[in-house]
Amino acid sequence: MKLEIFPIEADKKKPKPDWNQLGFGKHFSDHFFIMKYDQSQGWHHPKIEAYRPLTLDPAAIVLHYAQEIFEGLKAYKCQNGAIHLFRAKENLMRMNRSAKRLCMPEIDIDFVHSALKELILIDQEWIPTTSGSSLYIRPTMIGTEPTIGVKASSEFIFYIIVGPAGSYYAEGFSPIRIFVSDQFVRAVRGGVGEAKTGANYAASLLAGQEAKKAGYSQVLWLDAIEQKYVEEVGTTNIFFQFENELVTSPLTGTILPGITRDSVAKLAQNWGMKYVERRISMEEVTEGANSGQLKEVFGSGTAAVISPVSELHYKGKTYKIGNGKTGPVAQKFYDELVGIQYGKKPDPFGWIERIN
Ligand code: COI
Repeated sequence: MKLEIFPIEADKKKPKPDWNQLGFGKHFSDHFFIMKYDQSQGWHHPKIEAYRPLTLDPAAIVLHYAQEIFEGLKAYKCQNGAIHLFRAKENLMRMNRSAKRLCMPEIDIDFVHSALKELILIDQEWIPTTSGSSLYIRPTMIGTEPTIGVKASSEFIFYIIVGPAGSYYAEGFSPIRIFVSDQFVRAVRGGVGEAKTGANYAASLLAGQEAKKAGYSQVLWLDAIEQKYVEEVGTTNIFFQFENELVTSPLTGTILPGITRDSVAKLAQNWGMKYVERRISMEEVTEGANSGQLKEVFGSGTAAVISPVSELHYKGKTYKIGNGKTGPVAQKFYDELVGIQYGKKPDPFGWIERIN
């Protein structure tokens, strides 16, 4: 496949937003990458062209049966002008695992990875430079065959959009408050919980709205069978720092295998911390919060990076975590990850790739 690039004319470029007021997911650059798939040609006609609306048949399968997968990764502009990607191929590999689960065609990881680098370079002036900001990258695949019989699509579009982003939460790196859902569930074993598919997020919206109404930023999901064990937060995996161990839920098929989660695990092990993947019951969490054995709680994700948690609301009771401030463990992971991503700290794991 040969990538065709159609740069837009200089006078068609959009004005840039204020880098200090970015928020998350609101602004998109001047170009995007797109390619199509059908059964006779496979993936074909890969292009980088002007960012534009898609044209879809109203019967397109994605609009009816949610045959969609996506990824989230970031490009960072360093002080010396270097542009970095962080573990990008792992996002593309995860996308192929999601594709399998959703009966969608795999992408050629090396090809898409080089197309992504071209896209970032062509839109590099969209990479913000304010502290903590980055270019958020959203690869997406949708089933486009026009038929409303329930089946896997035979036609697909894969595209990548990018846009400048600040912190995911309005709180920034300040601790967030979390509502533990004991009414709704996100994913069941054997379902699509570990795939990065829009349907998982659609299923989470009602609980998210109710949490917001009650004054909480996010929902913490429990296992769907006993509603007893911690799974993940709406947009992040979750870690618990007890007196002498750092714990996160194991990958049992219902939670997203986060790349930031894996980075936290590798850093923790490298630092000689006691790091354990095991089931964590809400009973253990609430007892730990009450006794003071539970020192810190924090989420990990591409969009949110490390997000400290100050409070959990569960079955009508509020549990304060530590002193309600960002703890030293969350701070250390945040500093290390951000330091590696922006080229301020050594990268012993080879996670960074300079693309310019
Ligand atoms: C990410 O962290 O990149 C995600 O995809 C989570 C969310 C914004 C859906």
